[in-house]
Amino acid sequence: MRVLVTTASKHGSTRQIGEVIADQLQQHGHQLLCRDVEEVGDADIVQAGAIVLGTAVYGARLLSAGSAFASRLAHEFGGLVWLFGVGLKNVTVDPLRVTTTQPAEMGYRAGRYPVFGGVVETATLSAAERALIGAVGAHGKDLRDLELVQAWAALVAVQVSAAERAQGSRSTLPVV
Ligand SMILES: Cc1cc2nc3c(=O)[nH]c(=O)nc-3n(C[C@H](O)[C@H](O)[C@H](O)COP(=O)(O)O)c2cc1C
Repeated sequence: MRVLVTTASKHGSTRQIGEVIADQLQQHGHQLLCRDVEEVGDADIVQAGAIVLGTAVYGARLLSAGSAFASRLAHEFGGLVWLFGVGLKNVTVDPLRVTTTQPAEMGYRAGRYPVFGGVVETATLSAAERALIGAVGAHGKDLRDLELVQAWAALVAVQVSAAERAQGSRSTLPVV
């Protein structure tokens, strides 16, 4: 199945996690398109059989580009959607137990979809971001676990394959 993996990222770690997910889906035989939410065209959505959307968390909210894209999907896409967040708080302990949600449910609601651990590279932050992250006490934290991300992506890949098989068997049913 053709899968669009798209991310809203400010400093790159959500994009990196999206790339790991895309790579894993590709290894499972799916056709992949991986790009930032700002670069996704209408045709990319129309051609996708499934979409994985990831968004970084800032100030206890999802990046607005990610939330806006989720709203766009709610109106423009009827297929399967997997969501994930990336942050340093409320990181999901066992993301393998958290399954698909639909775009209308998007919002920073830990537990509805997995929040993977991200990273703060202090050197890349603006002065305002440094002050904010200092208040959160997350200077220099790196909670990324790319093996766990791969395991989650493998689960998604299997679910996408199952959806593809179900579609195929529906379309080959004899007409009576
Ligand atoms: C200014 C600032 C505010 C942040 N606020 C939150 C927050 O409220 N909750 C959280 O879980 N993580 C927070 N984080 C951590 C980011 O979600 C984490 O660094 C993530 O990996 C960033 O993703 P990105 O590299 O794709 O932009 C914050 C980071 C920064 C720099």
